[in-house]
Amino acid sequence: MSVQSAVKRKTAPELRARKNGEPIVMLTSYHAHTAALVDKHCDAILVGDSLGNVMHGFETTVPVTLDMMILQGRAVMRGSRQALVVVDMPFGSYEGSREQAFASAVRIMKETLCGAVKLEGGVRMAETVAFLSERGIPVMGHVGLTPQSINTLGSFRAQGREEASWAPIEADAKAIAEAGAFSIVVEAVAEPLARKITQSIAVPTIGIGASAACDGQVLVLEDMLGLSPRAPKFVRRYGNLGPMIEEAIAGYARDVKSRAFPGPEHVYEMKKT
Ligand code: KIV
Repeated sequence: MSVQSAVKRKTAPELRARKNGEPIVMLTSYHAHTAALVDKHCDAILVGDSLGNVMHGFETTVPVTLDMMILQGRAVMRGSRQALVVVDMPFGSYEGSREQAFASAVRIMKETLCGAVKLEGGVRMAETVAFLSERGIPVMGHVGLTPQSINTLGSFRAQGREEASWAPIEADAKAIAEAGAFSIVVEAVAEPLARKITQSIAVPTIGIGASAACDGQVLVLEDMLGLSPRAPKFVRRYGNLGPMIEEAIAGYARDVKSRAFPGPEHVYEMKKT
């Protein structure tokens, strides 16, 4: 007897079919509890390698490992029910060869049970995207600003600000789309370029700092919640959780110090939040 879950998860082909349709809503999550909240409102959840910055305090995503991605990918799968979960392939886990990329992607898919992987890079990664897609691994591309290349880029500056620099970014998006990616994250590019790319490729673009011209949007959850100490300028804040959390912690510290802390009768009574 097969065991079917009552709620059907969204799939990569379903997201692919949203080109020119209802905008795709995507956020990052790295934990079971935030995944459960994000899952209620999003089509897709990205277990982004931004967890290196957000959870671990690294300056860049370069130190993030495959094991770190798999651990958090499993947590997000446990916390979510209906969204497509996409797990980032970290720096160094896929660029060496298409076989290396396949082995890493298979580990991610088998050990997390997620529905797709994401990798950074354009023309140079097209052969790898085709290799994975043809072998049953749905791939989300990522072009424009590609943070894993920080050490060759030199800074996290927006890309394609002058029209003269548009052609390679457009070529990157086209190459990845034609290689079989089911959608492409377009990061930190000017609005006219994001529009041009969106109009010229057959799969949905998901923008981050790339204007409303894209087929969907993604943000780092902690950035839009006001929980990250530093967030990119383009991020619209939908909450201010940092100061709220600090206030709650300060209240707790005050209670402990003034011995106003509840007794055991309260401690053992579990309250549903
Ligand atoms: O790692 C991440 O969170 C990402 C988004 C910025 C798209 O790749």
